[in-house]
Amino acid sequence: MFKPTRLQKFSSTRVTVIGAGNVGGTLAQRLAEKNLADVVLLDIAPGKPQGMALDLMQARAIEHHDRMIIGTNDYSETANSDVIVITAGVPRKPGMSRDDLLRVNAEIVAEVTPKALTFSPKAIVVVVTNPLDVMTYLAWKVSGLPGHQVVGMAGALDASRFQAFIAMELGISIEDVTAMVMGGHGDLMVPLPRYSTVSGVPLTELMTEEAIARLVERTRNGGAEIVQLMQTGSAYFAPASAAYEMVDAILLNRRRIIPVAAYLNGEYGLYDIFMGVPVQLGRRGVDTVVELNLAENELAALHNSAKSVRQNIDSLIPMGLLLP
Ligand code: NAI
Ligand code: 2OP
Repeated sequence: MFKPTRLQKFSSTRVTVIGAGNVGGTLAQRLAEKNLADVVLLDIAPGKPQGMALDLMQARAIEHHDRMIIGTNDYSETANSDVIVITAGVPRKPGMSRDDLLRVNAEIVAEVTPKALTFSPKAIVVVVTNPLDVMTYLAWKVSGLPGHQVVGMAGALDASRFQAFIAMELGISIEDVTAMVMGGHGDLMVPLPRYSTVSGVPLTELMTEEAIARLVERTRNGGAEIVQLMQTGSAYFAPASAAYEMVDAILLNRRRIIPVAAYLNGEYGLYDIFMGVPVQLGRRGVDTVVELNLAENELAALHNSAKSVRQNIDSLIPMGLLLP
């Protein structure tokens, strides 16, 4: 008689997603349904992560995967995760800037990061909570981890938005478009047309300056445009895809070149800050920060964006969340 052996609860790579909201839930779905990893969804709200996990488990027959998804409010159930993704926080409401979120989300990130790392000290930490660059700096600071082990998700999303707008404008396949966006995940982000291409041809050879300026502005506004349309919350499909892309690069040690918020200590002339720059991303987190040969105006725009991130980091000091 056929006697199946019981599947181990967790037999493979596992990713913990803190925050079972729109981004966290969608990311959990992507991770499981693309068969990348088992997933632990953790949230402060009782029942919410458990319900979402059960829902995702019930889709497995149709989605054809055997990934385990569990939901919990207990950090001990996240033990031995390979990657921890932090999406816990409050999303932006209409009229609210990313920076308005700073105080409330800083308290959440400062609480959840050490709790999760207690059970998975070797995990690579991917921060999604806004304001992104500041929350990534805070997560790194409270974690005590080396800089390469903590990264923030924003550049992958902003570049994907720029790619989408380029493909829509030219009426071409997204497959042939690459884009680079550096800087902080805010109004001062730095989309780089010279480093954005269609099948290797720089955008600057394909579009007028006016058209490029329009797409750059729409990219900078990419999140706010969706908040204005939805009225109840912010984007989550593309953010979850961008976070997935990073987790995939990390777990499979793909060493992909992706813009992420990375710790900088001299690169691009910036010190002690997390900012969006292209990095080689693999199993140890950031392998190398890629230093592009930026023109004077591009570098100035990057430093301008860094100034705003620095101001927000400094504003955490009076809150007692960062030592001066
Ligand atoms: P959401 O409100 O749908 O989900 C947030 C979840 O966090 C909720 O389920 C909430 O219960 C949970 N949470 C709150 N405090 C917690 C705590 N102390 N411990 C555990 N869980 C806690 O929000 P959404 O849309 O999923 O966005 C999440 C965050 O990601 C927001 O800060 C948002 O601004 C940010 N975001 C960042 C993006 C980026 O490019 N970096 C893109 C999209 C969103
Ligand atoms: C976004 O860009 C809200 O940061 C989030 O959609």
